[in-house]
Amino acid sequence: MANDPFGRAIRDYYLDKQEEPLIERNGDERREHPIRRFYFDKPSMDGWKKSWLNGPLLDMGAGVGSHALYFQEQFETVAIEISEHLVETMRERGVQDPRHVDMFSLRDAFERDRFQSALAFGTQVGLVGSIQGLRKFLGDLTYVTAPDATAILHCYDPDLEGTRTLLGFRDDPTPGLAYRVLHFEYEEKVGETLLFRLFSPDRLREATTGTGWEVSETKYCPPENPGDQYEAVLTKL
Ligand SMILES: C[S@@+](CC[C@H](N)C(=O)[O-])C[C@H]1O[C@@H](n2cnc3c(N)ncnc32)[C@H](O)[C@@H]1O
Repeated sequence: MANDPFGRAIRDYYLDKQEEPLIERNGDERREHPIRRFYFDKPSMDGWKKSWLNGPLLDMGAGVGSHALYFQEQFETVAIEISEHLVETMRERGVQDPRHVDMFSLRDAFERDRFQSALAFGTQVGLVGSIQGLRKFLGDLTYVTAPDATAILHCYDPDLEGTRTLLGFRDDPTPGLAYRVLHFEYEEKVGETLLFRLFSPDRLREATTGTGWEVSETKYCPPENPGDQYEAVLTKL
């Protein structure tokens, strides 16, 4: 991955040599990306994730491995990441099986039925870019997971008021859909433009049709005060 200011900044933070902030940018709009809180604070491991996930687990877009470090103590966990800086960081943090794999090319990396469950925490699934891209991703995920597998996806809901205030939010006239566009900047290096497709739980339900998955449960996070995100449990049909 050329340049990768995102991964470099997080790795610098880990190595205690980060001197400049990691910036999210949309045109002139700029916000500091909270590295410690997002990636290094212990993730809240509610009963929900524990009850739906089982090994072998595929952690997709694993960051610095916060979830993988927890789940690898319970069962086999493979942690995939697009940033080589973060793969290296995971290895140094004790993640047992970190791999440089694109979560949107799963069939190239893993054999059929390889995993019992999959997790994509951090809203990176929006990088599918389109509903067609989401359907392809779900189809590939079907291929690499067992017939009775489960998956948890963490997403922004464009129908929630909080989502509209995200940096880079772009409205869509179709209910339940929106986009988000941004890039990261670190030490004056600018990363590639990231295009996220945002979809509501109902749009996700529609998108699963014909992919081998159905949405079994959804919950807002936090449930008592929905801000902008939800988690969806997918089970095989
Ligand atoms: C918001 S972070 C979440 C990290 C981690 N799951 C967590 O909860 O702390 C999203 C991660 O997805 C990774 N990512 C983005 N596109 C990816 C792709 N195509 N394949 C694998 N990982 C990807 C990013 O590099 C980033 O580390």
